[in-house]
Amino acid sequence: MSVVAKRVLVTGGAGFLGSHLCERLVAQGDDVLCVDNYFTGRKDNVAGLLGTPHFEALRHDITHPLFVEVDEIYNLACPASPIHYQFDPVQTTKTSVIGAINMLGLAKRLKAKILQASTSEVYGDPGVHPQPESYRGNVNPIGPRGCYDEGKRCAETLFFDYFRQHQMRIRVARIFNTYGPRMHPNDGRVVSNFIVQALQGAPITLYGDGSQTRAFCFVDDLIDGFVRLMAAPDHLTGPINLGNPQETSVAELAELVIALTGSRSVITRRPLPVDDPVQRCPDITLATKLLGWRPTTPLKDGLTRTIAYFDQLLSQRREDAEAGAPIAV
Ligand SMILES: NC(=O)c1ccc[n+]([C@@H]2O[C@H](COP(=O)([O-])OP(=O)(O)OC[C@H]3O[C@@H](n4cnc5c(N)ncnc54)[C@H](O)[C@@H]3O)[C@@H](O)[C@H]2O)c1
Repeated sequence: MSVVAKRVLVTGGAGFLGSHLCERLVAQGDDVLCVDNYFTGRKDNVAGLLGTPHFEALRHDITHPLFVEVDEIYNLACPASPIHYQFDPVQTTKTSVIGAINMLGLAKRLKAKILQASTSEVYGDPGVHPQPESYRGNVNPIGPRGCYDEGKRCAETLFFDYFRQHQMRIRVARIFNTYGPRMHPNDGRVVSNFIVQALQGAPITLYGDGSQTRAFCFVDDLIDGFVRLMAAPDHLTGPINLGNPQETSVAELAELVIALTGSRSVITRRPLPVDDPVQRCPDITLATKLLGWRPTTPLKDGLTRTIAYFDQLLSQRREDAEAGAPIAV
C-alpha cells in the first residue's frame, strides 16, 4: 500500500526559519508548498530544494486570500527583526492580523491543522523572569515595536477565537531569539550583527552596557520543536514557549564571537534603543513536559556553524563584487 505524502503549507517559507522548516519537512517525506512575498526571504534560501519533486514555491502575499489544498499550515510569514518590521509598520500589522485571518480561513475550509509562529515579544519588556506562558506581558502598544508585538498578540487572539468558535486544530508557538545559518546579514539582530562585524574586522556595536541578557536557540533545535508541536495531540494548542533557557549577556556573546572568528574587532558602545528588553529568557517547562523538547545545541557549536555560513556568504559577495555581478541584499 502506498502512503500519500502529507501536504504542508509553509508561509514565510523562504525566510530564515521557514527555509529550515521546508528542508526538514521535505526530508521527512512531506509535500511542501512554500509561500513567500520575498520581503525579507530570499530565493537562495530554498534554491537547494527547488529541483526536488516534493517542494514547490509560490510568490504570494498572505494579506491576500490564498486558495490551495493542504493538510497542515505553518504560518511563519512576517518580518522578524526590528529593522525590517519597522520599515513598513502598517504592512507588518497587516501581515500578522490579516495574514492570520486569511490562513485561519484557509485552515477552516480545509479542516487543516495550523501552527502560528508567535514570539516572545508578546511578553514585551517582561516584569517576570524567566517568562512562563501564563505571563500576560508588558507591551507598549504605541511604541515603534508595537506593530510587531501587538500584531502577534492579535494573531494569537484570532487563533484562540477560531479554536473556540470553530473547534479548529491550532498550535501557537512563542519563539524566543533563534539564530543560525541563513539569518539575514543586515537584519540588525545581535548574533548576525556581531558575526558580520567580526568577520569584516569592523567595530562590534554593543548597545547599553552589554549586561542585558538574551537566550539564543539554534535553528535546528527550534525546528525540532515546531515539528513536535504540530505532531502533538490536538488538545496541546499552546501557547508554548520554544527557546533556549540558557541566558547569555550581550557582552559575553560579543567576546565569544570575537574568539570564535579570531577577529581583531574592538567593541564600541551605543545607547539602548527604545523599548529594548533588558532581559529575555524562556521558561520551557511546558515544552519539555508536553513535547519532550529541549534545545541540545551548545551556543559555541551553533555559533561556529553560523559563522561558517556568514564567512561563505561574505566571501561570495566579495567575489561577486569583484566580478561586477549584482549583489542580493
Ligand atoms: N528568528 C527568530 O528569532 C524569531 C523569534 C520570534 C518569532 N519569530 C517568528 O518566526 C517567523 C519567521 O521568522 P524569521 O526569523 O524566519 O524571519 P524572516 O524575516 O527571515 O522570515 C519571514 C518570511 O516571511 C516573508 N513574509 C513577510 N511578510 C509576508 C507576507 N505579507 N506574505 C508572505 N510572506 C511574507 C518574508 O519574505 C520572509 O521570507 C516570523 O513570523 C517571526 O515573527 C522568529
